[in-house]
Amino acid sequence: GRVQREQFAGRWMFIMAAIGSAVGLGNIWRFPYIAYENGGGAFVIPYLVALLSAGIPLLFFDYAIGHRFRGSPPLAFRRLHKSTEALGWFQVMVCVIIGIYYAAIIGWAISYTWFSVSEAWGDDPNGFFFGQYLNMAEDVTPTLQIVPGVFWPMLAVWILLLIILGMGVRRGIAMASIIGIPVLVVMFLVLVVIALTLDGATSGLEALFTPNWEALTHPGVWVAAYGQIFFSLSVGFGIMITYSSYLKRRTNLTGSGLVVGFSNSGFEVLAGIGVFSALGFMAQASGVGITDVVDAGIGLAFIAFPALISEAPGGLGPLIGVLFFGSLVFAGFTSLVSILEVVISAVKDKTGLSRWTVVLTVGTACAIASLLLLGTTTGLPMLDTTDAFTNNVGIVGGALVSVIIVAWIVRRLRPLVDHLNAVSSFRLGPVYKVLIAVVMPVVLGYMVIAYLVERVQEGYGGYPDWYVNTFGWGMMAMLVVVAVVLSFVPWARNSALHVEDN
Ligand code: PHE
Ligand code: NA
Repeated sequence: GRVQREQFAGRWMFIMAAIGSAVGLGNIWRFPYIAYENGGGAFVIPYLVALLSAGIPLLFFDYAIGHRFRGSPPLAFRRLHKSTEALGWFQVMVCVIIGIYYAAIIGWAISYTWFSVSEAWGDDPNGFFFGQYLNMAEDVTPTLQIVPGVFWPMLAVWILLLIILGMGVRRGIAMASIIGIPVLVVMFLVLVVIALTLDGATSGLEALFTPNWEALTHPGVWVAAYGQIFFSLSVGFGIMITYSSYLKRRTNLTGSGLVVGFSNSGFEVLAGIGVFSALGFMAQASGVGITDVVDAGIGLAFIAFPALISEAPGGLGPLIGVLFFGSLVFAGFTSLVSILEVVISAVKDKTGLSRWTVVLTVGTACAIASLLLLGTTTGLPMLDTTDAFTNNVGIVGGALVSVIIVAWIVRRLRPLVDHLNAVSSFRLGPVYKVLIAVVMPVVLGYMVIAYLVERVQEGYGGYPDWYVNTFGWGMMAMLVVVAVVLSFVPWARNSALHVEDN
């Protein structure tokens, strides 16, 4: 090879960028209600089991592929074995879809940071969110009716994102995390301290941490734990493959993985404490039980929190709002950078075009799709449906197929483990191979099948069948087809495959 791949300035830059990717919306609003709904304090057991048996092993697996084969997912898989390139493109396509809707949530959080100052939702956060803010259409059929209040913040997100991606690995991606993560940690710590001082905080914490041991007998609780770990660690969809392809040859991979994994979980527990202290206050202030104020999903951030902000004592409301929504913006943005970088990196590797050219073409195309699908009166059902299918089918299914192919079909697990051990401090033995080759296929297979059966039987979210068939199942099928087609497109003569070191 003649050309050197872009590189992080050092291992700590990589760790910061990886933490920036991992710590996201999933930590702040997803983890707290998932833990609460699935056994409270008892959830710690399935959670730790999922982290140690699947999350961290898969994190190492992604690192090994990216670092050994030095490429975005299509390039890395192509070098792993000629016939597996499509697997890489599938991960890229999943990132396209996630990027398209993830940007919308960050746009909403920007709006709500601003709304917090004046408590713009008045005394009806629910009506405000769906009506005044999202201006939701009655029907789910996609419209091209732009909602300006959503569109403009989303556009700002995309412009900043494309600039950062255009600036490259060191000056753009690493910088975003080096600035974003400390700001996030400080804002969130202040928020947690304030929340802990609110009346009723302890009852919120009790609600979150009181163990319901009986929950451990439900398979759904274990599936929820594995699902949370995959989403939260950003494993299985090419992000960690891409980032580790930017590492120097000799880098302690497993050691870095442990730092990233435990930082991410630490932030989840912190978020659980902050969010449930606040909810405890909220329940007490409105004289209801905790269950009445816990909302799953986006409602927790965009309806329950606004209500709480309005009730907070002594003018603390706006401050709590700015800290909470500001945290969502910072946490979400560094994750979004990592999602889109997979796409940019893959196209750049395959075509040999310059980074800026790819950002301005492919990145702009993603931005337009995002603005037109999510910045309109039909954005919410779109977000909801694509999120459910990409997370539960795309990521988990993609990870399932890759572990089976790598471990059993092309049989390359051994060299990957040897590679990890050759460069790392924390050595992996036979247990690791069993986890990847046997435990993973069983766990992931069960998750995908259980989810698919449920979707076939119940549809999704109460949406009409045609809608779920198009944007849920249809979209998944389309991703597979596009991935296979792209894998047959020849690599450009000056592509990374031909000019970069392996
Ligand atoms: N890991 C992120 C979180 O916990 C979510 C994420 C999803 C990041 C997809 C990147 C890609 O919120
Ligand atoms: Na996370």
